[in-house]
Amino acid sequence: MEAIRSYDTAIPSVGIGTWTLGGEDCARLVHDAIAAGYRHIDTASAYGNEERVGEGVRASGIPRGELFMTTKVGPRDLADGDFQRSLEASLERLGMDHVDLVLIHWPSPTLSVAEMMRPLNDVRRRGLTLHIGVSNFTPRRLHEAWVSTEFPIIANQCEYHPYLNQDRLIAACEDKGTVLVAYCPLGRGRSFDEPAIVEIATRHAVSPAQVVLRWENQQGAVVIPRTTRADRLRTNLDIFGFRLDDAEMAAISALSRTRNERICGSSLIADWND
Ligand SMILES: NC(=O)c1ccc[n+]([C@@H]2O[C@H](COP(=O)([O-])OP(=O)(O)OC[C@H]3O[C@@H](n4cnc5c(N)ncnc54)[C@H](OP(=O)(O)O)[C@@H]3O)[C@@H](O)[C@H]2O)c1
Repeated sequence: MEAIRSYDTAIPSVGIGTWTLGGEDCARLVHDAIAAGYRHIDTASAYGNEERVGEGVRASGIPRGELFMTTKVGPRDLADGDFQRSLEASLERLGMDHVDLVLIHWPSPTLSVAEMMRPLNDVRRRGLTLHIGVSNFTPRRLHEAWVSTEFPIIANQCEYHPYLNQDRLIAACEDKGTVLVAYCPLGRGRSFDEPAIVEIATRHAVSPAQVVLRWENQQGAVVIPRTTRADRLRTNLDIFGFRLDDAEMAAISALSRTRNERICGSSLIADWND
């Protein structure tokens, strides 16, 4: 599996997103994803599926050390003490003694960034996670997080797809050496009928989904698409057998000039462009 390096680790370039998955379907999907070659699994306390994710991991028979597991602590649990308890409960549900990466899922509406970073660093110090990161952090918040952290912030998980311009965020992540993990990387399929994307997909004999994921990957982003379909599990992982040239990259990037929209949490953060 291809990986993107961040500080002293390598994050598998394609992970499986598990939001909305639950019950036996979730456990089966995680098992099938690992069987298809995925080594990076994204869950969160808020998804309510950590037990099933852990079940799928165990059923896969793949040693835990070969997997990159991410979970997230929600915005109401970020205070010192609450954060540690939330992650401990996640580990209990997952049936694991640590994750590879824990993220602040959304910034707290009340705590300062420095206050959020204290327990995040504490769980890293205690070995409950191998690495720390953030999610839905604007360039300014990412900068503030770096000012008050002891351990490197290896990832910032944010929405990214052809209908959302993230140039400022990508520059801010590059500046810090923080990897952008693109969520909603398919933009839920909204751009798949765009003539530019269809034309590029036809030229490379791949699907629009593969083109979009490759476009993000070639910008240095890790992608975590979600699918409930076994055939799509395989093709979403198979994005390294072709390369987009500069003109193709630019044509996809240009799409957000005419249609620029956020799918997740547009009202949760007042200052997305800050
Ligand atoms: N940190 C955060 O705040 C945050 C927020 C949102 C999401 N996330 C994470 O990011 C993951 C992915 O984002 P997402 O689930 O919102 O959206 P997404 O991955 O952009 O899109 C998922 C949708 O695309 C369809 N799809 C998947 N592969 C396809 C393909 N090859 N061709 C056509 N359609 C395809 C799926 O339908 P089928 O099931 O029918 O294939 C599903 O409806 C989540 O699961 C979650 O882990 C994080």
